[in-house]
Parts: sequence; structure tokens; C-alpha cells
Amino acid sequence: SKPIVIAVDGPGGAGKGELTKRLARSLGYELLDSGAIYRVLAYAARKAGLALFDEDSLVQEALVVNLAFEPQDDGVHVILNGEDVSLAIRTEEAGANASKVAVLPRVRQALLARQRDFRQEPGLVADGRDMGTVVFPDAQVKIFLDASCEVRAKRRVLQLESSGKTADYAAILQEITERDERDRNRSVAPLKPADDAVIIDSSDMTVEEVFNKAMEIVKEKL
Ligand code: C5P
Repeated sequence: SKPIVIAVDGPGGAGKGELTKRLARSLGYELLDSGAIYRVLAYAARKAGLALFDEDSLVQEALVVNLAFEPQDDGVHVILNGEDVSLAIRTEEAGANASKVAVLPRVRQALLARQRDFRQEPGLVADGRDMGTVVFPDAQVKIFLDASCEVRAKRRVLQLESSGKTADYAAILQEITERDERDRNRSVAPLKPADDAVIIDSSDMTVEEVFNKAMEIVKEKL
């Protein structure tokens, strides 16, 4: 049988990043941040002067883009052609650009093998939008982590403020809502729970409560 996959899907800001990091650490599993792959691809495309709707060129870029994840003391760093782009790909603009290249079916197809390569013993925690529906439809555990747009925008504001930046709640709420709509309404691999996913709504939960709930689900399924 294939190595274990715990698929965690959901909209941006629902807390997938924190949850999947904790799950991977406590289970000793690999971690796949699939959103980072879309972010890096969009970033590399912009640098190469490609239009974010130029599917042919983006497919080529997706197949050759030289991307590595490097665990360091303060978390996993994302390296593009030897350059550390961890911070550059985390802006709201980089997220919006990622969601534009992510609507292109052949670009998604071109990134499948790269993502599936992460499935290795002793197991994988996979963070994204389509982990349980498309990339790992046979994942042994599927969690869909949701939260209201308002809560997600508030969390983002706090996150920005805690790193010393100013944040405009209304603007962030609008960006989150727009990116969500693009992710939920695209024709290929739209953001939606797999039929066999367990849904967790984190709106009124702490990080700790979400982690405990997810561990319960993992223990039940494995
Ligand atoms: O999760 P993150 O915010 O880093 O993802 C950025 C964007 O990449 C998402 O808004 C989505 O459009 C796209 N994405 C995707 N499928 C995934 C992960 C991310 O389409 N599995």
C-alpha cells in the first residue's frame, strides 16, 4: 500500500499552514506546501516577463522551474534558482498572482508529478486546495479546514501587525474574498471539500483546539 497522506485543504487564512506544520512535526512526516509551488511559479513567471495568462509559457516554466524547500531553524525556506524567495512569495500580491496561474488546467497538470513525489515513507502532510480531491484522491486522511472570511481577514491583520507592518482590514477582506471566489469557481480543481473529507470550521477555535481535533481525526482513520 502507498505511504500515508494526510490531505489538508481549505481557503487561505483558515490556519492550514500552522496546522500542517504541527501535524508533520508531531508525526515525523514530510510536509508539502503546495501553495508555495503556485506562488513560486507566478513569481518566476513575473521575473521572466511572462503574462500570467500565457498558458503555454507557464506550462514550460512549471516543468523546468528550479524550486527547493529547505528546512531551517525558523521554518522551511523556499529557494528559487538558489535565491531565497520565502518572504517575497508571501505578499498579498504574490498570493493573488498564484491564484491567477492556478486557474490554468495545463499548468496544474504540469505540477502534479512534482507534488506527488512528496509522497514518501513514513508519510506526508499535504497543504493546499485540491490535495484530497485531485493530487492525492486516495489520501488516507482528508481534512477540510474552513473559517469565515471575516475571521481570516482579522487573523491576517494581526499577523501583519505582529511583524511590524500596517494593515488595512477592509482591503484585506476584499482581497481574501476575491481570491476565494477565484479558487472556488475555477473549472479545474476548484476549492471544495472531498466527499470523504472531515470538515473543521476554525472560526471560533484556537490553534491548539484545531490541532487536537485534527489529531483525533488522524487517530481514528489510521
Ligand atoms: O495556500 P496559498 O495561499 O499559499 O496558495 C496560493 C494560491 O495558490 C491559492 O489562492 C490558490 O489559487 C493556489 N493553490 C491551488 N492549489 C493548491 C494550492 C494553492 O490552486 N493546491
